[in-house]
Amino acid sequence: SRTLMTDGLGRRISYLRISVTDRCDLRCRYCMAEKMQFLPKNQVLTLEEIALLADLFIARGIRKIRLTGGEPLVRRDIGDLVRRIGRHIGAELEELTLTTNGTRLADHAEMLADAGVRRINVSLDSRDPERFAHVTRGGKIDQVFAGLDGARAAGLAVKINMVALKGVNDDEILPMLRWCGEEGFDLTLIETMPLGNTGEDRTDHYLPLTLVADRIRAEHALTPLSHRTGGPARYHAVEGMGIKLGLITPLTQNFCADCNRIRMTCEGKIFMCLGHEDHVDFKAALREGGLTAVEPLIDRALRLKPAAHDFRIGAGEGAATQRHMSVTGG
Ligand code: GTP
Ligand code: 5AD
Ligand code: SF4
Repeated sequence: SRTLMTDGLGRRISYLRISVTDRCDLRCRYCMAEKMQFLPKNQVLTLEEIALLADLFIARGIRKIRLTGGEPLVRRDIGDLVRRIGRHIGAELEELTLTTNGTRLADHAEMLADAGVRRINVSLDSRDPERFAHVTRGGKIDQVFAGLDGARAAGLAVKINMVALKGVNDDEILPMLRWCGEEGFDLTLIETMPLGNTGEDRTDHYLPLTLVADRIRAEHALTPLSHRTGGPARYHAVEGMGIKLGLITPLTQNFCADCNRIRMTCEGKIFMCLGHEDHVDFKAALREGGLTAVEPLIDRALRLKPAAHDFRIGAGEGAATQRHMSVTGG
């Protein structure tokens, strides 16, 4: 059997995030610019190529795969890939999951559950239709609610992802938490990260979760939990609610020391850290020499993984990368 992946700092890599498309049907203000240039189709890996690379990564010790985008459910025939990777679940692969904006979830929830997906993360920054349309630059919230209903009907556990944005949705955080409690959804709050030029100044909207957690604690006791998903969130039990509250704090308290993650873009570029530009391109090697040509590149990539991101938000600080969040799917 092949050697497991460990980076130069001794961190074991077991979580692969695969962005299956850079396209999305929404344009969240913190994620994309209003006008985005998307990749031409011939530069994007085929579903078969993605599946082959996933097989290789699983053989090298990946135990959790998350499909992302852009929006993963806008990729044509995405069900073929989910079922294909899903065959590994229960053997080496412990979890296959996805992060979605929910707009097309109603059509895909059953397929996901059938393929072995157990839980999904759905991005929802506001439950108010107008505000949702503002943040997403035109999204229709009813599609997301229909998607959430579909997920429930299919038996998928749901976690809501909410990027905390000062002056945009900070007044909705407590109501969102209570709504999640009623619906039986976990909730994860996320600090906005400065990736790519979005045409907005993220300094204006940056909200440290230390402040938010204090506001929540004034109303609901929070008990830190040891529960981890392999992702960056630190979880808390919310008194009387029966759901978990996750906090993702890249700015106020980074979680890089025990990072287990790498990410692959839909072009076959492997990014070892969300906050850095360094990457290794697998596509040409795969197309010219097959998987045997890709194997040595994995070890090159492992050596590139930095100790930490250096995100900063403040007056005069630009984006940490040219690349938008939608290229790596977070
Ligand atoms: P769970 O498996 O449910 O814990 O999900 P997850 O947090 O691993 O994945 P999700 O796609 O829901 O990501 C939530 C947020 O965490 C997104 O904003 C991601 O960009 C961010 N995130 C995930 N991994 C990293 C990381 O390694 N570094 C940083 N800075 N952010 C990350
Ligand atoms: N900062 C933090 N989170 C972001 N997301 C997208 N862009 C950003 C950003 N700039 C979130 C989405 C989704 C997850 C994959 O990442 O809302 O829930
Ligand atoms: Fe699309 Fe997700 Fe970015 Fe929103 S956050 S524009 S849903 S990729």
